[in-house]
Amino acid sequence: MGPVVRASVVIASLIGAAGDARAPALPPIPIPGPLAEPRSSKQVGFPADRTMAAIPSDNPQTADKIALGRKLFFDGRLSVDGTVACATCHDPGRAFTDGRQTSIGVQGRSGQRNAPTVLNALYNQTQFWDGRAKTLEDQAALPIVNPVEMGQPDLEAAVRSLAAYPDYQQAFQMVFGRPPNGRDLLRAIASYERTLTSFDSPFDRFLAGDARAINESAKRGWVLFNDEESEIDDLVIFMASLTSDPWQALGKQELARQRALARTNRPFRDTRRAFRSKP
Ligand code: HEC
Repeated sequence: MGPVVRASVVIASLIGAAGDARAPALPPIPIPGPLAEPRSSKQVGFPADRTMAAIPSDNPQTADKIALGRKLFFDGRLSVDGTVACATCHDPGRAFTDGRQTSIGVQGRSGQRNAPTVLNALYNQTQFWDGRAKTLEDQAALPIVNPVEMGQPDLEAAVRSLAAYPDYQQAFQMVFGRPPNGRDLLRAIASYERTLTSFDSPFDRFLAGDARAINESAKRGWVLFNDEESEIDDLVIFMASLTSDPWQALGKQELARQRALARTNRPFRDTRRAFRSKP
């Protein structure tokens, strides 16, 4: 078989796969265990100032609101047929991801994107791979109405499916002083997500001064990461070498932009070591 024929065979089999009526199995909704609990602010490396700055003034954190948000995050009744919760795709046991290349939503429908973790999402400047949501409150409304995720026709439909339950009526009254409604539902979920901070890694402990927290190999990797002459810069230059002649000017312009970026502050970069004697 020549390469062209082979290619057409591959394409035909891909079309066959896409047209397959058998939907992938939807996993059961995870049960909130210890990993779903709000995380301690005592973790090594916990950025108290940035955490405070990430809490909007119109949605302060309270224990009851966070508990309501956690309940909602794990509740399949937020989805059109009761089968999918936020936790389906953001499973605490998988570091709040689903461990799949792309997610599966109601009726086994496949999405096209990979589910990022919601751990430390409170520090994101924008949400989603393309940054299309500004805040965690804005973000939370979108999976609820996404036809391949939770599949509700609108946010009000999700509210209606919860408002009938006395436990939700009571919880919304207690936290917000009014019956269940869309805005407060998003606020509660976002408040819970703002407790999902993750630090205290060996690297956090190393940065905090514990020289034995990471091994020699990891230390060499860290030096390489910071090294002006090697990390990253060489890799970018190599990638620039992949640009064909017609786009050379564009490529050079982009390389100059990348190099300027490399000299700005990176949050976890040891700038002093990276630039040695330079300012
Ligand atoms: C069917 C799977 C699925 C469900 C259900 C789901 N998500 Fe997601 N989530 C994703 C995927 C996929 C993305 C990335 C999509 C994109 O970037 O366009 C994402 C992105 C996010 C992000 C952005 C994180 C980042 O780093 O940008 C947050 C926060 C989030 N989801 C929270 C939630 C909440 C809250 C719910 C429930 C109301 C929820 N998700 C329900 C799959 C899901």
